[in-house]
Amino acid sequence: MAELKYLSGFGNECASEDPRCPGSLPEGQNNPQVCPYNLYAEQLSGSAFTCPRSTNKRSWLYRILPSVSHKPFEAIDQGHVTHNWDEIAPDPNQLRWKPFEIPKASQKQVDFVKGLHTLCGAGDIRSNNGLAIHIFLCNTSMENKCIYNSDGDFLIVPQKGKLLIYTEFGKMLVKPNEICVIQRGMRFSIDVFEETRGYILEVYGVHFELPDLGPIGANGLANPRDFLIPVAWYEDRQVPGGYTVINKYQGKLFAARQYFSPFNVVAWHGNYTPYKYNLENFMVINSVAFDHADPSIFTVLTAKSVRPGVAIADFVIFPPRWGVTEKTFRPPYYHRNCMSEFMGLIKGHYEAKQGGFLPGGGSLHGAMTPHGPDADCFERASKAKLAPERIADGTMAFMFESSLSLVVTEWGLKISSCLDGNYYKCWEPLKSHFTPNSKNPTGPN
Ligand SMILES: [Fe+2]
Repeated sequence: MAELKYLSGFGNECASEDPRCPGSLPEGQNNPQVCPYNLYAEQLSGSAFTCPRSTNKRSWLYRILPSVSHKPFEAIDQGHVTHNWDEIAPDPNQLRWKPFEIPKASQKQVDFVKGLHTLCGAGDIRSNNGLAIHIFLCNTSMENKCIYNSDGDFLIVPQKGKLLIYTEFGKMLVKPNEICVIQRGMRFSIDVFEETRGYILEVYGVHFELPDLGPIGANGLANPRDFLIPVAWYEDRQVPGGYTVINKYQGKLFAARQYFSPFNVVAWHGNYTPYKYNLENFMVINSVAFDHADPSIFTVLTAKSVRPGVAIADFVIFPPRWGVTEKTFRPPYYHRNCMSEFMGLIKGHYEAKQGGFLPGGGSLHGAMTPHGPDADCFERASKAKLAPERIADGTMAFMFESSLSLVVTEWGLKISSCLDGNYYKCWEPLKSHFTPNSKNPTGPN
Protein backbone atom coordinates (compact mmCIF):
# COMPACT_ATOMS: atom_id res chain seq x y z
CA MET A 1 0.00 0.00 0.00
CA ALA A 2 1.37 3.39 -0.97
CA GLU A 3 2.16 5.62 1.96
CA LEU A 4 -0.84 7.73 2.93
CA LYS A 5 -0.65 11.51 2.96
CA TYR A 6 -2.02 13.73 5.72
CA LEU A 7 -2.71 17.36 6.50
CA SER A 8 -1.67 18.56 9.94
CA GLY A 9 -2.75 20.76 12.83
CA PHE A 10 -5.25 20.15 15.61
CA GLY A 11 -8.66 21.62 14.76
CA ASN A 12 -7.33 23.51 11.74
CA GLU A 13 -9.48 24.83 8.92
CA CYS A 14 -8.38 22.48 6.14
CA ALA A 15 -9.27 22.02 2.49
CA SER A 16 -8.60 18.92 0.40
CA GLU A 17 -9.38 17.69 -3.10
CA ASP A 18 -8.80 14.24 -4.50
CA PRO A 19 -6.05 14.91 -7.09
CA ARG A 20 -8.07 13.02 -9.71
CA CYS A 21 -10.55 15.92 -9.72
CA PRO A 22 -8.66 19.25 -9.60
CA GLY A 23 -10.91 22.20 -8.87
CA SER A 24 -13.58 20.08 -7.20
CA LEU A 25 -13.81 22.43 -4.20
CA PRO A 26 -16.15 25.31 -5.04
CA GLU A 27 -14.38 28.65 -4.87
CA GLY A 28 -15.73 31.58 -2.89
CA GLN A 29 -18.89 29.87 -1.63
CA ASN A 30 -20.07 26.63 -0.07
CA ASN A 31 -23.26 25.96 -1.94
CA PRO A 32 -23.13 26.76 -5.67
CA GLN A 33 -26.25 26.18 -7.72
CA VAL A 34 -24.35 23.38 -9.41
CA CYS A 35 -21.08 22.14 -7.88
CA PRO A 36 -17.92 21.42 -9.89
CA TYR A 37 -17.96 17.91 -11.37
CA ASN A 38 -21.75 17.95 -10.63
CA LEU A 39 -21.18 16.81 -7.06
CA TYR A 40 -23.65 17.20 -4.20
CA ALA A 41 -22.77 19.62 -1.37
CA GLU A 42 -23.43 18.39 2.18
CA GLN A 43 -22.59 20.06 5.49
CA LEU A 44 -21.61 18.00 8.53
CA SER A 45 -22.18 20.03 11.70
CA GLY A 46 -20.20 18.99 14.77
CA SER A 47 -21.40 21.86 16.94
CA ALA A 48 -24.58 23.88 17.29
CA PHE A 49 -24.78 26.46 14.50
CA THR A 50 -24.57 29.18 17.14
CA CYS A 51 -21.50 27.96 19.09
CA PRO A 52 -18.86 30.64 19.66
CA ARG A 53 -16.27 30.73 16.92
CA SER A 54 -13.62 29.03 19.08
CA THR A 55 -15.79 25.92 19.46
CA ASN A 56 -17.73 26.01 16.20
CA LYS A 57 -17.09 22.89 14.10
CA ARG A 58 -18.37 21.99 10.67
CA SER A 59 -17.15 20.65 7.37
CA TRP A 60 -18.50 20.82 3.84
CA LEU A 61 -18.35 17.61 1.83
CA TYR A 62 -18.66 17.46 -1.97
CA ARG A 63 -19.82 13.98 -2.88
CA ILE A 64 -21.09 11.82 -5.70
CA LEU A 65 -24.37 11.07 -3.88
CA PRO A 66 -25.55 12.61 -0.60
CA SER A 67 -25.71 10.56 2.61
CA VAL A 68 -29.50 10.82 2.65
CA SER A 69 -29.81 8.32 -0.20
CA HIS A 70 -30.48 5.04 1.64
CA LYS A 71 -33.23 2.57 2.64
CA PRO A 72 -34.75 2.98 6.13
CA PHE A 73 -32.73 2.08 9.22
CA GLU A 74 -33.79 -0.98 11.16
CA ALA A 75 -32.64 -2.17 14.58
CA ILE A 76 -29.97 -4.90 14.53
CA ASP A 77 -28.44 -7.18 17.15
CA GLN A 78 -26.62 -5.08 19.76
CA GLY A 79 -24.06 -7.73 20.61
CA HIS A 80 -22.28 -6.43 23.71
CA VAL A 81 -22.76 -2.73 23.00
CA THR A 82 -24.78 -1.16 25.77
CA HIS A 83 -25.51 2.11 27.55
CA ASN A 84 -27.56 0.43 30.26
CA TRP A 85 -25.66 1.29 33.42
CA ASP A 86 -28.15 -0.54 35.64
CA GLU A 87 -27.85 -4.06 34.22
CA ILE A 88 -25.71 -5.25 37.12
CA ALA A 89 -25.07 -4.10 40.72
CA PRO A 90 -22.24 -1.58 41.25
CA ASP A 91 -18.86 -2.89 42.39
CA PRO A 92 -16.57 -0.53 44.34
CA ASN A 93 -13.59 -2.90 44.31
CA GLN A 94 -10.32 -2.37 42.54
CA LEU A 95 -10.88 -4.19 39.26
CA ARG A 96 -8.28 -5.62 36.92
CA TRP A 97 -8.73 -7.52 33.69
CA LYS A 98 -6.40 -10.00 32.05
CA PRO A 99 -5.86 -9.33 28.34
CA PHE A 100 -9.23 -9.46 26.62
CA GLU A 101 -9.34 -12.49 24.35
CA ILE A 102 -9.48 -11.94 20.61
CA PRO A 103 -11.62 -14.45 18.72
CA LYS A 104 -9.66 -16.71 16.37
CA ALA A 105 -10.40 -16.03 12.71
CA SER A 106 -10.40 -19.77 12.04
CA GLN A 107 -13.29 -20.19 14.48
CA LYS A 108 -15.40 -17.08 13.96
CA GLN A 109 -15.02 -14.09 11.69
CA VAL A 110 -15.56 -10.92 13.68
CA ASP A 111 -15.25 -7.40 12.31
CA PHE A 112 -14.77 -4.14 14.22
CA VAL A 113 -18.50 -3.53 14.75
CA LYS A 114 -19.30 -7.09 15.81
CA GLY A 115 -16.22 -6.99 18.03
CA LEU A 116 -17.32 -3.98 20.08
CA HIS A 117 -17.82 -4.71 23.78
CA THR A 118 -18.87 -2.05 26.27
CA LEU A 119 -16.80 -2.41 29.45
CA CYS A 120 -18.01 0.50 31.55
CA GLY A 121 -19.53 3.92 31.36
CA ALA A 122 -21.85 6.46 32.93
CA GLY A 123 -24.12 9.31 32.06
CA ASP A 124 -26.91 9.80 29.64
CA ILE A 125 -26.71 9.62 25.87
CA ARG A 126 -29.91 11.54 25.27
CA SER A 127 -28.80 14.55 27.27
CA ASN A 128 -25.31 14.44 25.73
CA ASN A 129 -23.49 14.00 29.00
CA GLY A 130 -21.38 10.98 29.76
CA LEU A 131 -19.03 8.40 28.34
CA ALA A 132 -18.49 4.74 27.59
CA ILE A 133 -15.33 2.66 27.42
CA HIS A 134 -15.42 -0.11 24.87
CA ILE A 135 -12.99 -2.91 24.01
CA PHE A 136 -12.77 -4.01 20.37
CA LEU A 137 -11.73 -7.57 19.57
CA CYS A 138 -11.78 -8.47 15.88
CA ASN A 139 -10.09 -10.47 13.18
CA THR A 140 -11.82 -9.51 9.92
CA SER A 141 -12.16 -6.32 7.88
CA MET A 142 -15.53 -4.61 7.57
CA GLU A 143 -16.78 -5.55 4.12
CA ASN A 144 -19.24 -3.25 2.36
CA LYS A 145 -20.10 -1.91 5.77
CA CYS A 146 -19.47 1.36 7.60
CA ILE A 147 -20.55 2.77 10.95
CA TYR A 148 -21.25 6.23 12.28
CA ASN A 149 -21.99 7.29 15.82
CA SER A 150 -24.82 9.73 16.51
CA ASP A 151 -24.04 9.71 20.21
CA GLY A 152 -20.50 10.99 20.49
CA ASP A 153 -16.85 10.88 19.52
CA PHE A 154 -14.73 7.72 19.45
CA LEU A 155 -11.13 7.99 20.63
CA ILE A 156 -9.62 4.73 19.35
CA VAL A 157 -6.48 3.23 20.90
CA PRO A 158 -5.26 0.22 18.90
CA GLN A 159 -3.24 -2.15 21.07
CA LYS A 160 -2.62 -5.13 18.76
CA GLY A 161 -2.74 -4.91 14.98
CA LYS A 162 -2.92 -1.83 12.80
CA LEU A 163 -6.15 -0.27 11.53
CA LEU A 164 -6.67 0.99 8.00
CA ILE A 165 -9.59 3.37 8.48
CA TYR A 166 -11.64 4.56 5.52
CA THR A 167 -13.49 7.77 6.34
CA GLU A 168 -15.51 10.26 4.34
CA PHE A 169 -12.48 12.58 4.60
CA GLY A 170 -9.94 10.04 3.35
CA LYS A 171 -7.88 7.15 4.67
CA MET A 172 -5.82 6.85 7.87
CA LEU A 173 -3.45 4.10 8.91
CA VAL A 174 -3.39 3.87 12.70
CA LYS A 175 -0.84 1.58 14.35
CA PRO A 176 -0.44 0.59 18.00
CA ASN A 177 1.14 3.54 19.85
CA GLU A 178 -0.93 5.87 17.68
CA ILE A 179 -4.49 6.94 18.43
CA CYS A 180 -7.23 8.40 16.31
CA VAL A 181 -10.44 10.29 16.94
CA ILE A 182 -13.49 9.74 14.76
CA GLN A 183 -15.88 12.51 15.68
CA ARG A 184 -19.64 12.28 15.96
CA GLY A 185 -21.44 11.49 12.73
CA MET A 186 -18.40 10.61 10.60
CA ARG A 187 -18.80 7.40 8.64
CA PHE A 188 -15.90 4.99 8.76
CA SER A 189 -14.95 1.43 7.92
CA ILE A 190 -11.98 -0.47 9.36
CA ASP A 191 -9.72 -3.00 7.65
CA VAL A 192 -7.61 -5.19 9.93
CA PHE A 193 -4.68 -7.45 9.06
CA GLU A 194 -4.50 -9.86 11.97
CA GLU A 195 -6.24 -10.64 15.23
CA THR A 196 -6.73 -7.10 16.46
CA ARG A 197 -7.50 -5.52 19.81
CA GLY A 198 -7.85 -2.06 21.26
CA TYR A 199 -9.66 0.36 23.52
CA ILE A 200 -12.22 3.06 22.77
CA LEU A 201 -13.15 6.09 24.83
CA GLU A 202 -16.51 7.40 23.69
CA VAL A 203 -17.64 10.80 24.97
CA TYR A 204 -21.20 11.98 24.47
CA GLY A 205 -21.99 15.43 23.20
CA VAL A 206 -18.58 17.07 23.57
CA HIS A 207 -15.40 17.00 21.52
CA PHE A 208 -11.83 16.38 22.57
CA GLU A 209 -9.60 19.42 22.98
CA LEU A 210 -5.95 19.95 23.72
CA PRO A 211 -5.57 20.79 27.41
CA ASP A 212 -4.71 24.34 28.40
CA LEU A 213 -1.03 24.67 29.25
CA GLY A 214 -1.11 27.43 31.88
CA PRO A 215 2.40 28.29 33.11
CA ILE A 216 3.91 25.61 30.83
CA GLY A 217 3.55 28.15 28.03
CA ALA A 218 2.91 27.87 24.33
CA ASN A 219 4.63 24.53 23.69
CA GLY A 220 4.65 21.08 25.20
CA LEU A 221 2.62 17.95 25.88
CA ALA A 222 0.81 17.08 22.62
CA ASN A 223 1.72 19.79 20.12
CA PRO A 224 -1.03 20.82 17.66
CA ARG A 225 1.10 20.27 14.54
CA ASP A 226 1.47 16.55 15.28
CA PHE A 227 -2.22 15.81 14.79
CA LEU A 228 -2.74 14.42 11.29
CA ILE A 229 -5.85 14.70 9.15
CA PRO A 230 -6.59 12.53 6.11
CA VAL A 231 -6.65 13.96 2.59
CA ALA A 232 -9.67 13.64 0.32
CA TRP A 233 -10.03 10.27 -1.38
CA TYR A 234 -13.09 8.88 -3.09
CA GLU A 235 -14.30 5.70 -4.67
CA ASP A 236 -17.13 5.76 -7.21
CA ARG A 237 -18.18 2.22 -6.43
CA GLN A 238 -21.60 0.72 -6.99
CA VAL A 239 -22.50 -2.13 -4.65
CA PRO A 240 -25.41 -4.00 -6.27
CA GLY A 241 -25.50 -6.50 -3.39
CA GLY A 242 -25.99 -3.65 -0.93
CA TYR A 243 -23.71 -1.57 1.26
CA THR A 244 -24.63 -1.54 4.97
CA VAL A 245 -24.53 1.70 6.93
CA ILE A 246 -24.62 1.08 10.67
CA ASN A 247 -25.68 3.85 13.01
CA LYS A 248 -25.20 3.91 16.77
CA TYR A 249 -28.16 6.04 17.77
CA GLN A 250 -29.21 6.61 21.38
CA GLY A 251 -27.02 3.66 22.33
CA LYS A 252 -28.68 1.18 19.97
CA LEU A 253 -27.38 -0.19 16.67
CA PHE A 254 -29.33 0.23 13.44
CA ALA A 255 -28.54 -0.72 9.85
CA ALA A 256 -29.62 0.74 6.51
CA ARG A 257 -28.86 -0.48 3.01
CA GLN A 258 -27.66 1.60 0.10
CA TYR A 259 -26.16 0.66 -3.24
CA PHE A 260 -22.95 2.69 -3.36
CA SER A 261 -19.86 3.27 -1.25
CA PRO A 262 -20.26 6.12 1.28
CA PHE A 263 -16.60 7.01 0.70
CA ASN A 264 -17.60 9.11 -2.28
CA VAL A 265 -16.40 12.51 -1.09
CA VAL A 266 -14.26 14.06 -3.84
CA ALA A 267 -13.40 17.24 -1.94
CA TRP A 268 -14.03 18.75 1.47
CA HIS A 269 -13.17 21.73 3.58
CA GLY A 270 -13.71 22.61 7.22
CA ASN A 271 -12.48 22.12 10.77
CA TYR A 272 -14.56 19.06 11.69
CA THR A 273 -12.52 16.04 10.64
CA PRO A 274 -11.15 12.75 11.91
CA TYR A 275 -7.53 12.88 13.04
CA LYS A 276 -4.71 10.72 14.35
CA TYR A 277 -1.75 11.26 16.66
CA ASN A 278 1.45 9.34 17.33
CA LEU A 279 2.00 9.03 21.09
CA GLU A 280 5.79 9.13 20.51
CA ASN A 281 5.39 12.82 19.72
CA PHE A 282 4.21 13.66 23.23
CA MET A 283 6.62 16.08 24.92
CA VAL A 284 6.82 14.82 28.48
CA ILE A 285 7.05 17.28 31.35
CA ASN A 286 7.93 16.12 34.85
CA SER A 287 9.40 17.10 38.18
CA VAL A 288 13.19 17.60 38.07
CA ALA A 289 13.64 18.35 41.78
CA PHE A 290 11.53 16.34 44.21
CA ASP A 291 8.00 14.94 44.60
CA HIS A 292 5.48 14.18 41.88
CA ALA A 293 3.55 16.43 39.62
CA ASP A 294 0.00 15.10 39.37
CA PRO A 295 -0.68 12.84 36.35
CA SER A 296 -2.59 15.65 34.65
CA ILE A 297 0.80 16.68 33.21
CA PHE A 298 0.47 13.65 30.95
CA THR A 299 -2.89 14.67 29.43
CA VAL A 300 -3.00 14.28 25.65
CA LEU A 301 -6.62 15.26 25.06
CA THR A 302 -9.48 16.35 27.27
CA ALA A 303 -13.25 16.32 26.86
CA LYS A 304 -14.36 19.11 29.14
CA SER A 305 -17.52 19.25 31.23
CA VAL A 306 -19.24 22.55 31.90
CA ARG A 307 -17.49 22.78 35.29
CA PRO A 308 -14.14 24.58 35.00
CA GLY A 309 -11.21 22.17 35.20
CA VAL A 310 -13.43 19.08 35.44
CA ALA A 311 -13.36 16.68 32.51
CA ILE A 312 -16.02 14.30 31.26
CA ALA A 313 -12.90 12.35 30.35
CA ASP A 314 -9.18 12.92 29.91
CA PHE A 315 -6.90 10.77 27.80
CA VAL A 316 -3.60 10.51 29.68
CA ILE A 317 -0.43 8.58 28.78
CA PHE A 318 2.65 7.44 30.69
CA PRO A 319 5.43 7.52 28.09
CA PRO A 320 9.09 6.59 28.36
CA ARG A 321 10.98 9.35 30.23
CA TRP A 322 13.72 10.08 32.73
CA GLY A 323 13.08 9.85 36.46
CA VAL A 324 15.47 12.16 38.28
CA THR A 325 13.72 13.26 41.46
CA GLU A 326 15.75 13.32 44.66
CA LYS A 327 14.62 12.25 48.18
CA THR A 328 11.39 11.01 46.60
CA PHE A 329 9.39 7.80 46.46
CA ARG A 330 9.38 7.65 42.68
CA PRO A 331 6.56 5.28 41.68
CA PRO A 332 3.02 6.66 41.60
CA TYR A 333 1.80 7.60 45.07
CA TYR A 334 -0.98 5.86 46.98
CA HIS A 335 -4.14 7.50 45.90
CA ARG A 336 -7.86 7.95 46.40
CA ASN A 337 -9.51 10.05 43.75
CA CYS A 338 -12.96 11.51 43.23
CA MET A 339 -12.36 10.79 39.54
CA SER A 340 -12.66 7.27 38.05
CA GLU A 341 -9.44 5.91 36.56
CA PHE A 342 -9.49 3.27 33.82
CA MET A 343 -6.02 2.17 32.75
CA GLY A 344 -4.89 0.15 29.77
CA LEU A 345 -1.51 -0.99 28.50
CA ILE A 346 -0.51 -0.80 24.84
CA LYS A 347 2.90 -2.43 25.34
CA GLY A 348 5.55 -3.18 27.96
CA HIS A 349 5.28 -3.24 31.75
CA TYR A 350 3.66 -0.60 33.90
CA GLU A 351 6.08 0.72 36.51
CA ALA A 352 3.83 0.35 39.57
CA LYS A 353 2.81 -3.25 38.80
CA GLN A 354 5.29 -5.53 37.11
CA GLY A 355 2.97 -8.52 36.86
CA GLY A 356 -0.75 -8.94 36.36
CA PHE A 357 -1.36 -5.72 34.44
CA LEU A 358 -0.61 -6.83 30.91
CA PRO A 359 -0.87 -5.38 27.39
CA GLY A 360 -4.44 -5.71 26.19
CA GLY A 361 -5.83 -5.89 29.73
CA GLY A 362 -7.03 -3.09 31.94
CA SER A 363 -7.85 -1.85 35.40
CA LEU A 364 -10.50 0.36 36.91
CA HIS A 365 -10.24 2.26 40.16
CA GLY A 366 -13.60 3.88 40.71
CA ALA A 367 -14.43 7.02 42.62
CA MET A 368 -12.55 7.08 45.94
CA THR A 369 -11.37 3.48 45.53
CA PRO A 370 -7.83 3.29 46.95
CA HIS A 371 -5.00 2.17 44.69
CA GLY A 372 -1.25 2.46 44.34
CA PRO A 373 1.95 0.49 43.99
CA ASP A 374 1.87 -3.17 44.89
CA ALA A 375 3.84 -4.45 47.87
CA ASP A 376 6.89 -5.48 45.82
CA CYS A 377 7.07 -2.12 44.13
CA PHE A 378 6.81 -0.28 47.47
CA GLU A 379 9.62 -2.29 49.06
CA ARG A 380 11.92 -1.92 46.08
CA ALA A 381 11.32 1.78 45.52
CA SER A 382 11.74 2.59 49.21
CA LYS A 383 15.27 1.18 49.11
CA ALA A 384 16.28 2.15 45.60
CA LYS A 385 19.37 4.30 45.00
CA LEU A 386 18.05 7.53 43.53
CA ALA A 387 20.22 7.88 40.45
CA PRO A 388 18.71 9.27 37.24
CA GLU A 389 16.98 6.37 35.55
CA ARG A 390 14.94 5.62 32.51
CA ILE A 391 11.30 4.91 33.30
CA ALA A 392 8.88 2.99 31.11
CA ASP A 393 11.24 2.29 28.18
CA GLY A 394 9.41 0.11 25.68
CA THR A 395 6.16 0.79 27.51
CA MET A 396 3.01 2.78 26.89
CA ALA A 397 0.34 2.76 29.56
CA PHE A 398 -2.61 5.10 29.35
CA MET A 399 -5.55 6.25 31.43
CA PHE A 400 -9.09 7.30 30.65
CA GLU A 401 -9.92 9.46 33.67
CA SER A 402 -13.48 10.63 34.23
CA SER A 403 -15.38 12.81 36.66
CA LEU A 404 -18.30 10.40 36.25
CA SER A 405 -18.64 7.40 38.53
CA LEU A 406 -18.18 4.54 36.06
CA VAL A 407 -20.42 1.49 36.04
CA VAL A 408 -19.06 -1.83 34.80
CA THR A 409 -21.22 -3.84 32.42
CA GLU A 410 -22.21 -7.47 32.76
CA TRP A 411 -19.77 -8.22 29.94
CA GLY A 412 -16.98 -6.58 31.93
CA LEU A 413 -17.72 -8.28 35.22
CA LYS A 414 -18.86 -11.70 34.02
CA ILE A 415 -19.21 -12.55 30.35
CA SER A 416 -15.69 -11.58 29.28
CA SER A 417 -14.29 -14.01 31.90
CA CYS A 418 -11.21 -11.79 32.06
CA LEU A 419 -11.73 -10.22 35.49
CA ASP A 420 -8.79 -11.03 37.76
CA GLY A 421 -10.32 -12.06 41.07
CA ASN A 422 -6.91 -11.95 42.77
CA TYR A 423 -6.11 -8.30 42.10
CA TYR A 424 -6.57 -7.20 45.73
CA LYS A 425 -3.87 -9.66 46.77
CA CYS A 426 -1.09 -7.50 45.34
CA TRP A 427 -1.58 -5.10 48.27
CA GLU A 428 -2.08 -7.73 50.99
CA PRO A 429 1.65 -8.15 51.73
CA LEU A 430 1.99 -4.43 52.54
CA LYS A 431 3.15 -4.32 56.13
CA SER A 432 3.51 -1.64 58.75
CA HIS A 433 6.98 -0.12 59.09
CA PHE A 434 5.85 2.26 61.86
CA THR A 435 8.54 2.96 64.46
CA PRO A 436 6.73 4.89 67.23
CA ASN A 437 9.95 5.52 69.16
CA SER A 438 12.11 6.69 66.29
CA LYS A 439 11.47 9.52 63.88
CA ASN A 440 14.32 8.47 61.59
CA PRO A 441 13.07 7.04 58.32
CA THR A 442 14.93 3.78 57.88
CA GLY A 443 12.78 2.29 55.15
CA PRO A 444 11.69 -1.32 54.91
CA ASN A 445 14.11 -4.04 56.03
FE1 LIG B 1 -4.76 7.29 40.65
